[in-house]
Amino acid sequence: MATKSWLTLMLLLMSWRESMHCNGLTVDPPEDLVILDPGHLGHLEITWSPPTSLINMTECPKLYQLEYFNTYMDSWTAIRTDRRTHSAQFDLMKDVRVRVYTLLSGPCTNGTMIKSTSYIEVVQKPPSTGVVGTAVQDFVCVYHNMKYLECNWGRSPKMLANSQQNLYFWHNGLKQAEECPKYLILNGARSGCNFTEKSLPKFTDINFCVNGSSPEGPLKPTFISLQIQNHVKPETTEKLHLQTGPDMQLELHWEGPVGSLPGDCLEWEVEHNQEGPDGKIASQLISTKQMSLTLPSIHDNKRSCVRVRSRLNKYCADKSFWSEWSRPTCQPEMALKPEWDMVPVYVYIAVAIIAILVLSLCAGAVLKVRRSRQLKKPDYARHIVFQKFSTYICGGLKRQENLHLHRSQIAPV
Ligand SMILES: *[C@@H]1O[C@H](CO)[C@@H](O)[C@H](O)[C@H]1NC(C)=O
Ligand SMILES: *[C@@H]1O[C@H](CO)[C@@H](O)[C@H](O)[C@H]1NC(C)=O
Ligand SMILES: *[C@@H]1O[C@H](CO)[C@@H](O)[C@H](O)[C@H]1NC(C)=O
Ligand SMILES: *[C@@H]1O[C@H](CO)[C@@H](O)[C@H](O)[C@H]1NC(C)=O
Repeated sequence: MATKSWLTLMLLLMSWRESMHCNGLTVDPPEDLVILDPGHLGHLEITWSPPTSLINMTECPKLYQLEYFNTYMDSWTAIRTDRRTHSAQFDLMKDVRVRVYTLLSGPCTNGTMIKSTSYIEVVQKPPSTGVVGTAVQDFVCVYHNMKYLECNWGRSPKMLANSQQNLYFWHNGLKQAEECPKYLILNGARSGCNFTEKSLPKFTDINFCVNGSSPEGPLKPTFISLQIQNHVKPETTEKLHLQTGPDMQLELHWEGPVGSLPGDCLEWEVEHNQEGPDGKIASQLISTKQMSLTLPSIHDNKRSCVRVRSRLNKYCADKSFWSEWSRPTCQPEMALKPEWDMVPVYVYIAVAIIAILVLSLCAGAVLKVRRSRQLKKPDYARHIVFQKFSTYICGGLKRQENLHLHRSQIAPV
């Protein structure tokens, strides 16, 4: 019984659907799908018209379902609109794929919404212009302390002689793409662009294109689209204070970057290098949201050094660059003395005593020689040997003494 009534329902449904189709209620896809490039470096305008079969059905609301392949996300994106135009962002180095369906509702369809079974599609291949292998590589933009944007690129594998690269950019606030305000030059070639104090909008796509020309023809263009708040690199921390608190604990605090960076957006990393009892340096990384930190007590006056760096946290930006490390600050502050200053004092004393001894020996020897010269002139050969011997020893000692004097003049005692 139950099976029978279910079958009847199925049949009823099928015949209802069919009647709709028989009543000419199939819906045609839109027509004249066109993709326009207004020169916004990837921000394309898509237009279409309603199917002619529906033009006279003015009493029935028409919607369009637009689907395009989002190459940035590697998936299809769909939107529904009652307009006949839509703008979307595309990577012009890849295929642009767009499909549009018609959706009809209202009295014509007895209140239900019917989607056209087929769609109109346009697939646009990337332009094949440009000498192969001349596209720039490793395009990186850094938004320094949210003050100025700098973009750099690497040389293409097949760099052509006498080629000139250009950077263009566009965002929603610009009518037309503009050229880089200040190129960065490396080894005579353009290697990047400094947007200096030019204000660029946050939280909106900015499109970049690096193209160029050479005697052998145009270079292959590179297109990049990004939002600058995801490319922030905070300033290096300058002011770092480290002091020994009660209980021999190290108290550290520092000052954040001045400028447009919101302070509660920053997260910090502290590197603590501590000399252990065995003289080995133990390194420790600590993550923190505060700008102060208490570090464990120091081993009997062993040296501790800290440095910090920062980046934007995940609530403020999708990603961020780490700042450079600050200069390290140490406790105790004094740097280890250079090695020659560490020679124990008793070594100096010993050297001095020996020097005095040998000098007086020399003086004695010289006196003796003089006396023997006066007494025994004939003993010439012996005299020469003896004099030579004493000059050699005493001269050497004199040199050594000079050296010693020189050292103790340099060394602050
Ligand atoms: C729509 O209506 C106009 C005038 O009412 C007629 O000329 C035209 O052929 C119609 N178009 C279609 C597709 O039925
Ligand atoms: C619309 O539906 C009603 C009942 O639901 C039915 O009586 C009528 O025939 C239908 N009209 C069309 C055009 O399908
Ligand atoms: C880029 O411009 C900023 C702001 O004018 C300046 O501080 C910075 O030094 C420039 N960078 C380079 C690499 O010239
Ligand atoms: C580079 O791109 C800009 C902006 O689209 C364009 O005006 C310019 O003609 C292009 N230059 C070359 C050499 O292709």
